[in-house]
Amino acid sequence: MASILVTGGAGYIGAHTARLLLEEGHDVQVVDDLSKGYAHNVPKGRLHIINLHDAASLDALFARHRFDAVIHFAALIAVGESMREAERYFRNNVGGSLALLEVMRRYGVRRIVFSSTAAVYGDPDSTPIPEDAPLRPKNPYGESKLMVEKILGWLDRTSGLRSVSLRYFNACGAEPRYGIGEEHQPETHLIPLILRAILTGEPITVFGDDYPTPDGTCIRDYIHVSDLAAAHVRALEYLMAGGATDVFNAGTGRGYTVLEVIRAAERATGRPVPFRVGPRREGDAAVLVADSSKLRKTLGWQPQYESLEAMVESAWQFENSRRTR
Ligand code: UFG
Repeated sequence: MASILVTGGAGYIGAHTARLLLEEGHDVQVVDDLSKGYAHNVPKGRLHIINLHDAASLDALFARHRFDAVIHFAALIAVGESMREAERYFRNNVGGSLALLEVMRRYGVRRIVFSSTAAVYGDPDSTPIPEDAPLRPKNPYGESKLMVEKILGWLDRTSGLRSVSLRYFNACGAEPRYGIGEEHQPETHLIPLILRAILTGEPITVFGDDYPTPDGTCIRDYIHVSDLAAAHVRALEYLMAGGATDVFNAGTGRGYTVLEVIRAAERATGRPVPFRVGPRREGDAAVLVADSSKLRKTLGWQPQYESLEAMVESAWQFENSRRTR
């Protein structure tokens, strides 16, 4: 059993990971400022409402708990917003991470799993994307995550901090056992928007159908949030066993077009998805699919959800349950 601090643990992926850690017998404390996350995502008694820039409160928490490791999710995640509010993204995502790393250093906590993103690759030259592909973020969000990866690389060399950065592809779905799911405000992600279109009858806009893909719509690698949570737990175990600092793609390696996601949602829900085709969304890459062989080989990770339909079904269950709570 390890004592783990989860920052951003009231958010979508952080909350799923915190619950999985608890199920696996670890002691978990969650730090979240609730600017985006929800207290109802965190099991009772484990939430500390702290912003990472509040060094005194973080210090006090580290003084009370002897953390073996940190899993660091807390960050702003909206690509479009990051283009309009770049300073805020760098201050929050880079500055917040640095503040956390300084407290970790003061308390001798030497292991961290970090939420990175496929956005560090920008427009890849080829696909599937291996970890050593060129890193060319196209927005401040992706750049802020890459900056933290680089800081972690330097801290490995200068002070022996061991880290795993997981570059997420498209997290989706929900874990039925936990009764939690994706609740972004505002929601920008494809699958929750598709499900809302079904429920409201308001059509969703498909952003562009003139991409160089089989049906003209963008291809993404959808990974179920429970499989993503499991990747964090594997990364943690790897670090606890003395694993070296490294970076891994977290995706299934299989890509689906937007129209394929819409069809999968129709099969999963038994309802038609109202949609219309609109212009491309600025900054979208045509195809983002992970080469996830390194995660599979090094961390022994294997996704449980292979079918997109099952992933969408789990999101549908959550979407319906949250409407009746
Ligand atoms: N899409 C639509 N209509 C919508 C919303 C999305 O057609 O209303 C399309 C997008 O163009 C894209 C796909 O659906 O092709 C998926 O879009 P999402 O917004 O759900 O996800 P992204 O791929 O844009 O973003 C995800 C993560 C980001 C991360 C990025 C990496 O959510 O945090 O991958 O590139 F930065």
